[in-house]
Order: sequence, then structure tokens, then C-alpha cells
Amino acid sequence: MFSSRNRSIGRAHSKLILIGEHAVVYGQPAIALPFPTLTVTCAVEEIDTGIYIESNLYAGPIEQIPERLKGLATCIRATLQEINKHYKGFLLKIDSKIPIGRGLGSSAAIAVAIVRSLYQFFKCDLSGSKLRELVTIAETYAHGNPSGIDMESVVQDEPIWFEREKGIESVTIQSPFYLVVADTGRAGDTRSAVASIKENIDKSPLETNQSIDKIGQYTYEARQALLQGNLNQLGNLLNLAQTELDKLGVSDKGINHLVDVARSAGAFGAKLTGGGRGGCIIALAENNVQAKEICQHLNQNGAVSTWSFKVEETQKYHSITS
Ligand code: MEV
Repeated sequence: MFSSRNRSIGRAHSKLILIGEHAVVYGQPAIALPFPTLTVTCAVEEIDTGIYIESNLYAGPIEQIPERLKGLATCIRATLQEINKHYKGFLLKIDSKIPIGRGLGSSAAIAVAIVRSLYQFFKCDLSGSKLRELVTIAETYAHGNPSGIDMESVVQDEPIWFEREKGIESVTIQSPFYLVVADTGRAGDTRSAVASIKENIDKSPLETNQSIDKIGQYTYEARQALLQGNLNQLGNLLNLAQTELDKLGVSDKGINHLVDVARSAGAFGAKLTGGGRGGCIIALAENNVQAKEICQHLNQNGAVSTWSFKVEETQKYHSITS
């Protein structure tokens, strides 16, 4: 359709929240991991005129982008304004392998890949803080009141400790472990899940804040368990966090079912990951063989996709991108 000339590529990977989702919106810490298996690529190609998008979500001119993707359009326009260079036109080809609405950070990863690809296209340097500023535009549109953890974890290549307003730190992982990710096949809506907890706070502040505080406490303990290489304890903490997420109303029957399947298949612990109300669960396994067995049980009992991968500390603190 278009005769292309100049071409640049931006990439990002998906993420998993190990523990602390939802409570992180209210200032509690959370631990997140890069999930390098699922990635998004954005290729920018020069064309004669206009801004066009080609993706499995939408294909067409930026002016006609559907309402639910308007955050991305705003992010693209803000990026162009920031770069402030002349252009004739370009086509953004977005190829995302990250299923949408599964708590894997697809919206943040797409925005990160877009901003990176545009900076690359115009041969401009992109600082970490500018990337965050631009991606926040899309994330705020998608999630309403994002803590920023999704964006941070798709930007970083290593496990992170995240606290809203305080930023990130590295997490020491004494012994590598395996995580299983299983997809319920249903898209959750993080925006409404986050909003529902806010409503709970207004209606039943005591109970809701207790659950939020408990999740925060389990997250501190999970950091210790990772430091000590204590998988039994880590698994137990994931289970306890899941109980509180269920009480908060962001788990559901389908998630609870997969969590039970993973636990009875021998996982040290299992819980939802991300916004919940659909989406994915994670389960903790000691080794690759056990992880594969858990995947098999999940596949036979309702999961539409499963993945497993090894989690280890990849780099040290100094390598965290600021
Ligand atoms: C979504 O991946 C994580 C939530 O805690 C929302 C947020 O922190 O922005 C549910």
C-alpha cells in the first residue's frame, strides 16, 4: 500500500507482578518481573503523508483511531511535539505478541515500543524520564489511576521493587526459581478493577485498607524470602496475597479455579497477576520439570495458554535504567 523509505524499530517486553498489585496503587510496595517471552515491536516507516497505524487492534489513519485507543494517539502526538522535527508522514506497524487485558502490561509495552521507535526514527536521544512521561499519557488513559508499575516493569530488564512516588530498587534473588503463567482466556479490565477497589475504600474503609496493608506486608516478606532463597515461604506469601485479592473482589471463579489447579499440581503458591477479573495467574515452581507438569495440568483444566520461565537476578542495582 505504501512505498516505504526510512525505517526504525522500537521494542518492549511484557511484565508480571509477582506480588503487590492493587495495594501498590495506595502506596504499598510491589515486586514485578520482566516477562521476556512475550514482546511487542513497533516499526516506523516513512510514507508520503499522514500518520497511519497498522496493528491487530486497529488499522487506519490516526484521526480515526477508536475511542479505547485514544491514549495511544495522544501519546504519539505528544511524542512528535517533543521531538519537534519535520516529517512528511509515517506508518506505525505494531506487532504485539502480548495478549490484551491479561495483566501482562500490553498497553504499557505498546506505548513504550511506539515512543522508542519514534525517537529512533527521528534519530533523537530518549532519556528514561522522557520515556516515562510520554508513556504515562497512554497509561493514564488506559488505567485511570496507574501506579506506574506496569510502565516501569516493561522498561526494566530485571526484577524490580516498586513504590509509587519513591521509584524502584533492585531485588536480590538468592536462588533462581520457575514461574508458570496461565491465561484464563478472558480479558480483565484493569481500569474498572482499580476503580472498584476505590469504591470499596469509600464503602468499607476498614476492611479494604486492612487487605491493602496485608498485601503490603506480604510483599516486604516476599522480598526477604527471595533474598533467602526460601521458595516455600515465597509460595505461601503468594497464596496469602491471593486470599486478600479475592477479598478485595478482583479475583473471580475462573482465576480461583486455575489457582487451585496449580496448587494441586504441586506449585509452592499461586495467585492472579495484574489487574485480575480475568487475565492470568502465576504459579511458583522449583525447577523446569515441575513447571512443565504444572503447565500440563493447567492446560488440561481450562487454561487457554501457559508459559513457564526461569526467574533470576540478571544484573545488579547499578544497571537499573533511571
Ligand atoms: C496492573 O498491572 C497493576 C495494578 O496494581 C494497577 C496499577 O498499579 O497501576 C492493578
